[in-house]
Amino acid sequence: MSSDGDGVLSHNRDAWDHKVRAGNRWTRPVTAEAISAAREGRWEVLLTPQKPVPRQWYPPLAGTRVLALASGGGQQGPILAAAGARVVVFDASAAQLRQDRSVAEREGLELETVQGDMADLRAFAEASFDLVFHPVANCFVPHLEPVWRETFRVLAPGGVLLAGFANPVLYLFDDDPETGMQHLEVRHSIPYSDAERLSVDQQRRWRQRGDALEFGHSLEAQIGGQLAAGFVLTGFYEDRLDVEQCALSRYIANFIATRAIKPGGPRRSGSHPSGRGAGGGPERP
Ligand SMILES: C[S@@+](CC[C@H](N)C(=O)[O-])C[C@H]1O[C@@H](n2cnc3c(N)ncnc32)[C@H](O)[C@@H]1O
Repeated sequence: MSSDGDGVLSHNRDAWDHKVRAGNRWTRPVTAEAISAAREGRWEVLLTPQKPVPRQWYPPLAGTRVLALASGGGQQGPILAAAGARVVVFDASAAQLRQDRSVAEREGLELETVQGDMADLRAFAEASFDLVFHPVANCFVPHLEPVWRETFRVLAPGGVLLAGFANPVLYLFDDDPETGMQHLEVRHSIPYSDAERLSVDQQRRWRQRGDALEFGHSLEAQIGGQLAAGFVLTGFYEDRLDVEQCALSRYIANFIATRAIKPGGPRRSGSHPSGRGAGGGPERP
């Protein structure tokens, strides 16, 4: 297979459908208890493996139009909907989106699902959303520039992008799922591409096992890419996989979360000069 987006998209769509059948952690819907707590204002969600996103990173959620981007699995979308947002969950995997719809039906939540590629958001008009919530998933696409460009387009001026992504250091080492990322020998350079490294036969075997193709993007593509698309960064933290899952976590944080805003939008009275929103309405840097 080439490293083109289409071959990768169909491989990863099948891989995530497979992960749903296998009960992978990122495909397990939230409980009824989590939804009822969210309805009462007690909720938290993840952009990265373990640390919840700080509450001050969100705009007020009531009526806020949220795009949960590559965020299927019945997790963040239903929680944000229960907390009052108007949520569209967008994902490549039909099985992941079914998890969101099953939670929405079970809990009587309004939530829309749309299947597609995060690099192509033509399903949505310009300025359709106030918040894009994008948990770790851009490691499954070969190029980030279209993702940041499209995200910027669909956000309203003053809208917020919350993104989680892998620190590329994660891709320097042995990443074979069979050895469980426990072998810390430098093997690859960054940017890294499974689609370029693996032979056609290896890719076929990965597909049968439900292993997705991943890409280790540089920090320039991740952070510089958001800035180049026009975003202004207003928040940053690091997180890490469990040490049991990834030996590298003993030595360095391997995931990053950023908060960014699309400049513009009406200036709110009393808004904080830092641009960190506490009140209603879109933000302005
Ligand atoms: C690690 S999961 C993230 C969702 C999960 N709810 C979470 O808690 O982080 C990665 C998601 O990205 C989706 N995905 C992979 N490639 C995609 C693409 N090209 N476009 C849209 N979604 C994609 C997968 O189907 C999967 O649901």
